[in-house]
Amino acid sequence: MTQQKLLCDIGFIGLGVMGKNLVLNLADNGFNIAAFDLSDDKVQAVIAQDESENTTNTPRVYGCSSYTELLSQLKAPHLIVLSVPAGAPVDQVCENLIGAGIQPDDIIIDTGNSLWTDTVEREKRYKSNFLLFSSAVSGGEVGARFGPSLMPSGSPYAWARVKPIWEAIAAKVDAQTGKPMVRTQPGQVITDGEPCAAYIGPAGAGHYVKMVHNGIEYADMQIICEAYHVLKSGLNLSCDEIADIFEKWNDGPLDSYLMEISVEVLRHKSSDTNTPLVELILDKAGQKGTGLWTAMSSLELGCPAPTIAQAVYARSISSFKTLRTQASTVLDGPEQPALSEIEKQQVITQLHDAMYCAKICAYAQGFQLMKLAAKEHGWTLDFASIAKIWRAGCIIRAAFLQSITDAYQRDETLDNLMLDDFFAKQLNDRQLNWRKAICHATMQGVPIGALSTSLAYYDSMRSETLPANLLQGQRDFFGAHTFERIDKPSGKKYHVQWSTKARETIQVDT
Ligand code: 6PG
Repeated sequence: MTQQKLLCDIGFIGLGVMGKNLVLNLADNGFNIAAFDLSDDKVQAVIAQDESENTTNTPRVYGCSSYTELLSQLKAPHLIVLSVPAGAPVDQVCENLIGAGIQPDDIIIDTGNSLWTDTVEREKRYKSNFLLFSSAVSGGEVGARFGPSLMPSGSPYAWARVKPIWEAIAAKVDAQTGKPMVRTQPGQVITDGEPCAAYIGPAGAGHYVKMVHNGIEYADMQIICEAYHVLKSGLNLSCDEIADIFEKWNDGPLDSYLMEISVEVLRHKSSDTNTPLVELILDKAGQKGTGLWTAMSSLELGCPAPTIAQAVYARSISSFKTLRTQASTVLDGPEQPALSEIEKQQVITQLHDAMYCAKICAYAQGFQLMKLAAKEHGWTLDFASIAKIWRAGCIIRAAFLQSITDAYQRDETLDNLMLDDFFAKQLNDRQLNWRKAICHATMQGVPIGALSTSLAYYDSMRSETLPANLLQGQRDFFGAHTFERIDKPSGKKYHVQWSTKARETIQVDT
């Protein structure tokens, strides 16, 4: 098929893995694309792939060799999608488009994992040049190709234009069952079902929500990794045996994409050794920053998200491989007691429940964080809608997200997911097993930071009384920071001369 000049619906810049697949997804859904990348090889690759997959006689992707050519190929006002790395590259492309003559009523959609505050700042900075809209995308390369979860935010005017396109390319969920409707073949489109694309709010809100999605993703992944560690090091199971257990669990409340891919990773054999590849992978985890941003935001807002923060720490600890290797020769752990077959089965059941409870905590933390951020930044976030668009397409997609949707539909003001009747029952029914799994892993010396910090979170959140009374006493002792008393009117502050010689209580004006 020869390249013909088209007046295209959408301009697309950045043809890496995500960009290329989004272009092909847009093309499958009937949109013509003018595509540009700094690497001409990438432009040619997307054209070649489109030509091999295109079953119509009309070319769907037009390759461009410059920003100016890209603009000249688009219907006005121009709609341009960016899929470039977060940070400086986004600004470089914006400046280049300004140089190429982009107009104030043109729309640029940033689909990268931008820091949400950068998005807020960019929308203001480029206001007189063009309309910056953002839409975080989750789902990796397969999601981008066959239906991602999309978290758009920014100008409602821009959203009106983007909405039909986004709803067409997004993952779809069966409205009756709440289950994903899966596309797997090029050219396949799904026109019914509920799209996993919903307007999140003003500039920055969508990227914030995606950031929290990634924080939950970190926690979810770490919880699975800790379960693997307990089963492997604590129970001495093989990768195939662990995969069998995870596969079984994936039929129950832990049903999720991350469990599904973990089964595949565990079963995969290295082509050269024919042993599980996972056991040959160096145990140092990478990270690009979105989990860290989530943990930082939780600290800034004073919203506890320890499971998410612990998942970030776990990646950091893993990266200290040399230090860990050295410490492993110096620091003792417990003797690993031999377990009977019955005891092993009990641990497996307890571990399942521990994972489920920790997972509920991670989501409870993420949703509470979004609630506090919305209050802080003046956003109106619809949590049922956010849970809905995470039911398919995204990395944390899980059957469980239907239950979260239901919880927020029952009560949109819910302060914490653990207070919802359904989730409270899930936790109450399993908390004993959760504790037993933690005890077992601790006595085996297997680190289970996410599982155990979640339990501490659960126990703290359900404690009417915490030892912060002593903490307030300590603060007042050394810094005269004052405290309130439970037997006196609320809001009155007191300070005490704590030394044994002077015991007088002084009421401080507030
Ligand atoms: C998604 C993923 C995606 C990316 C992560 C990886 O939702 O599609 O979250 O955004 O894979 O950013 O992050 P790390 O490299 O930090 O694990």
